[in-house]
Amino acid sequence: MSKVTTRARATPDPITAALQELHDSLASDAGGDLATYIPQLARVDPGLFGLALATMHGRVYKAGDADVPFTLQSVSKPFVYALALADLGLEEVLSRVGAEPSGEAFNAISLEPGSGRPSNPMVNAGAILTTSLVRAPDPVARFERIREVLSAFAGRRLELDEAVFASELETGDRNRALAYLMRNAGSLRCGVDEVLDVYFRQCALLATSVDVAVMAATLANGGVNPCTKVTVVSQPIAEHVLAVMASCGMYDAAGEWLLRVGLPAKSGVSGGLVAASPGQFGIGLFSPLLDARGNSVRAVAASRLLAERFQLHLMHHPGRSVPVIARAGSALTLQSGRRRLRTEREVLHAHGDDIDLRSLQGDIEFAAAEVILQSLSTVSPARPGGARWLVLDVQGVSRLHPVAARMLDSAVLELGSRGVVVAVGDPHRRGLLPHAAVELPSPEEALEWCEDALLESHGASLALEQREPWQPGQGGE
Ligand code: DON
Repeated sequence: MSKVTTRARATPDPITAALQELHDSLASDAGGDLATYIPQLARVDPGLFGLALATMHGRVYKAGDADVPFTLQSVSKPFVYALALADLGLEEVLSRVGAEPSGEAFNAISLEPGSGRPSNPMVNAGAILTTSLVRAPDPVARFERIREVLSAFAGRRLELDEAVFASELETGDRNRALAYLMRNAGSLRCGVDEVLDVYFRQCALLATSVDVAVMAATLANGGVNPCTKVTVVSQPIAEHVLAVMASCGMYDAAGEWLLRVGLPAKSGVSGGLVAASPGQFGIGLFSPLLDARGNSVRAVAASRLLAERFQLHLMHHPGRSVPVIARAGSALTLQSGRRRLRTEREVLHAHGDDIDLRSLQGDIEFAAAEVILQSLSTVSPARPGGARWLVLDVQGVSRLHPVAARMLDSAVLELGSRGVVVAVGDPHRRGLLPHAAVELPSPEEALEWCEDALLESHGASLALEQREPWQPGQGGE
């Protein structure tokens, strides 16, 4: 009998498997056309199809031709917009380029009547104007800055496809016409050839699906490249770019895209597509056959399926999370465990409800902070039987978002003004609530601290006067 050797087939992780499955199910769809108005783009293999996903921890998953480079084309636009925002600030940029979806094709003459201000930075007119806003002494330096920033988004130096650049330089008369219109209206304030040279170069930068996924992940990660850890742009800029991608990134398909896929995205005529799920991951897709609107057929279909499968829609309700207040009570029912004299125990028994306790847990953002504020509003010495001390046990708080921290700290301040002393118990010693009277390394110690304060308020001498020898099993000292 011949010996049969079986070779264990490596099972891909579930994310790679999902990308692989999408690739396999869509690869045979040969619908759509190559972009031909930039002749060099028509020379690409129409069968190419790459998918990549990069996480906030810098892990990358991929399938198909995810390492095959393609020219970014319009996928470059959001990243150059980010650079213009960093250079000039939102207000100045908005005064020059709008943020309204045009509902028109990418190469439409979408200019505000009179001012010539383009409707948004994702259509060609807006992108050309945005490129002109990047600060630099001359066009060569301007392109180098753009290349540097896009490379920082990708985490590696991006090269220029000279042939595609030359091809568009030769045939890009429609963009030239748009630039002349803007220059005539006064919205474009530099030379047409000068800005187009830089714009065509940025469009001809080469990146792979993996690069694009990392670029998207950098936006999704608040401007910090999750692979290199380099801060490329600030968090507000990353958010502004994602907002404009969500409303304008898919041109005249933007509304339906937001409806069906629900992710900020940008497509390009070479077949690239970038999309981001804020705080979760970035995706980069590439397949050169385009639909009538200039968006990659396979990339759009893959994004839809991916968004459905992983419930990525921005408007998706995340479902109920754990209750933010894990435990609420007073020192009547919850005691520190410290051995106390009998007389002390009697005082605590009689006045334990002077000490309130809240144990908080989870990731606390605005809505959770609001729940806590509501709960704290009942803590008051003015109320009959109301507390004068409050233990805030934050041991189980995994994260207190800055906005929630401000809300809670001002509640602590306000409690203080009403005569409630707040003691925080936090083994991580994070100083989350600076206006608390004290922060101790555990909730038990915070409770003990409040008990001591309560006993002292009932006369420090009490314990001394009535000291009695402690008996084992008595629970006293
Ligand atoms: O300006 C152009 O026409 C091209 N360099 C880029 C256009 C583009 O990618 C539109 N996207 N779908």
